[in-house]
Amino acid sequence: MNILVIGSGGREHALGWKLKQSPKCDKLFFAPGNGGTASLGENVSLATEPVNTKTVDAIAYFCREHKIGLVVVGPEDPLADGLVDQLTAACQALSQGKPIPVIFGPVQAAAQLEADKAFAKKLMRAAAIPTAEARTFTDLEAALAYVRSHETPVVVKAAGLAKGKGVVVCDDSQQAVDAVNMIMSDRAFGQAGDTVVVEERLVGQELSVLALVDGRNIFVLDPAQDHKAIGEGDTGPNTGGMGAYCPTPLIDDKLMSQIERHIIVPMVDTLRREGVVYQGVLYAGLMLTAGGPKVLEFNCRFGDPETQPLMMRLKGDLVHIMLATAQGRLDEVDLSWDDRCCCCVVMASGGYPGPYEKGKPITGIDALDGDHDVQVFHAGTTVNKDGPLVTSGGRVLGVCAMGDDLAAAQQKANAACEKIQFDGAYFRRDIGHRVMQTAKS
Ligand code: AMP
Ligand code: GLY
Repeated sequence: MNILVIGSGGREHALGWKLKQSPKCDKLFFAPGNGGTASLGENVSLATEPVNTKTVDAIAYFCREHKIGLVVVGPEDPLADGLVDQLTAACQALSQGKPIPVIFGPVQAAAQLEADKAFAKKLMRAAAIPTAEARTFTDLEAALAYVRSHETPVVVKAAGLAKGKGVVVCDDSQQAVDAVNMIMSDRAFGQAGDTVVVEERLVGQELSVLALVDGRNIFVLDPAQDHKAIGEGDTGPNTGGMGAYCPTPLIDDKLMSQIERHIIVPMVDTLRREGVVYQGVLYAGLMLTAGGPKVLEFNCRFGDPETQPLMMRLKGDLVHIMLATAQGRLDEVDLSWDDRCCCCVVMASGGYPGPYEKGKPITGIDALDGDHDVQVFHAGTTVNKDGPLVTSGGRVLGVCAMGDDLAAAQQKANAACEKIQFDGAYFRRDIGHRVMQTAKS
């Protein structure tokens, strides 16, 4: 089967790497892909944004020409813009009765769970899913008045998609006022900030729980922990994610099944009651508070970087798993995991998540070849024809290493990062520090 992966991040490289290991995978295409996916398959210059008749028709023609059997949509933007719905219709129109590709990812209505935080809050309330108390505002003055008068710390969120950066965790009401102004008045995230959600600031460890959902059946994947802040010790502004490890000892089977029963299942059921069938990955970003797990956000796709350690540990055939998920046959799938821990350390461009330079040559990745316990997934990299591998984004590489425990995996990943060079390279050396500290004390 030929497969098309849409996206260009570490997530798409890791998914492609795992898809390629399947005996069912023949040719692998990435649109647009990155410097790493180019050596796994073929990067194609198919525009996937904006989602409109022209771009969708071009993808549908590509699928027909290259006999694509599976399309995997990685990022949230095309999902939120309805790529799955529109591509299904365009492929059907071209099919002349022949089978169309299986498309992995939720439809537009389901993807609003991530694209509209106000909508997500409404559904969570309706389903009695534990989450932070929140108020939603479309009026600047009302939002300002609320945060000025609010005594306890809040978190201010742009309701729309903002590449993981539209959330400001505030220590006092002045910071909250500044955040509301930045989002609603300065429009730092454009339309994504037309509505803001102001919610109570929760305290606890964060956890990412991803589940495969085939419309009916749910398969919860091993839990992972991401590190959103740029600085060591979880300091500084939020990023798309600076590193993740999996599994995490933070929760046991009992808590995991509680999360499934009280968070994942009710959300899928509530969507179904609204007439929305969820197929794809449902990702719950959780905070483990003193009062139990509470939802910070739902995402409609694989997390990045969490997917990188997940794919390193996943045993089994990802093509089979994705086909079964998208075709409502998840009950046929049996997933298992490598018992070891995987730690992924993100190497970023100096300055990220603020402005940063691009085009810096990257060296040293080859020195890691041959060690099967280390994989370097590319995110913001490009290879120009016959030129060197260069940086082209904020998050540049996800350096993943397996170890018998988290400490061993972290040490190995950090050592691998030391061998890779590019001008301004920055990475956190403390991925997993919170549970390692708990283990020590
Ligand atoms: P979100 O995109 O909503 O998951 O928010 C991004 C990050 O902001 C989360 O991973 C947390 O680190 C932090 N955050 C979001 N909501 C809250 C909250 N209610 N309390 C404390 N931290 C939060
Ligand atoms: N790692 C955070 C996200 O994928 O949204």
